[in-house]
Amino acid sequence: MFIGGNWKLHLDTQSATQLTQEIVAGLSDKQAAEIVLFPTFVHLPVVRDALCNSDVKLGAQNQSEHEQGAYTGEVSAWMLKDVGCQYVLLGHSERRHVYHETDAMIAKKLTRAFEAGLKPVLCVGETLDERDDDRASEVVLQQLNAAFADCDVAQIQTTVIAYEPVWAIGTGRVATPDQAQTMHAIIRGFLHDRVGDKARDVQIIYGGSVKPDNAKDIFSKPDVDGGLIGGASLVAEDFLAICSAF
Ligand code: PGA
Repeated sequence: MFIGGNWKLHLDTQSATQLTQEIVAGLSDKQAAEIVLFPTFVHLPVVRDALCNSDVKLGAQNQSEHEQGAYTGEVSAWMLKDVGCQYVLLGHSERRHVYHETDAMIAKKLTRAFEAGLKPVLCVGETLDERDDDRASEVVLQQLNAAFADCDVAQIQTTVIAYEPVWAIGTGRVATPDQAQTMHAIIRGFLHDRVGDKARDVQIIYGGSVKPDNAKDIFSKPDVDGGLIGGASLVAEDFLAICSAF
């Protein structure tokens, strides 16, 4: 299982440190899941320091498709690795829709992440219109095909895939466990075509309004290997409840 806490554009130095400390203190020794916190770029060092001696990992919310150069405002995969990140979120729907990131950019970002030794968490998901038009699986498969265009089998196997229907993110409208399972099985099928039986080992996580009261039902589905948590990851008690909801 994999549980990510996507803090988005929230918190300051003091509250990010405190939240990290509360999460670390509240996790049990028997924690079976890989738990990763994704603070803003500026809070990566303080969260890293607050995580010391814990098994919780550090990740960034985005990364440049460039290695270095005249790209004002960007942060490279190497820089993230250098400050202690092991993971990076790529292709989050807020990046795709608010910042107009294209499939081609996301494919390049994936390549840069692998070069730097980061594990990508690749986000895919359809909008409500696309679901209503019965195009949800077509959209998700297209996003996967485009993102993995330049990746080899080993790289695909290393990637965590987050299925996040856009209509469920931050809306309180969660996909039903069956809706999640259906799409996760389609993604598993895609992976099987690309990496064969190793597809079983790839983590496919669900994101979109996961809360303590719905996490267990979603995580109980056979192809759901965890969750990417936004709003509920900002409250230690809620995040900890989700981390033990399976
Ligand atoms: P949410 O966000 O849990 O607030 O819906 C999930 C995400 O954007 O990763």
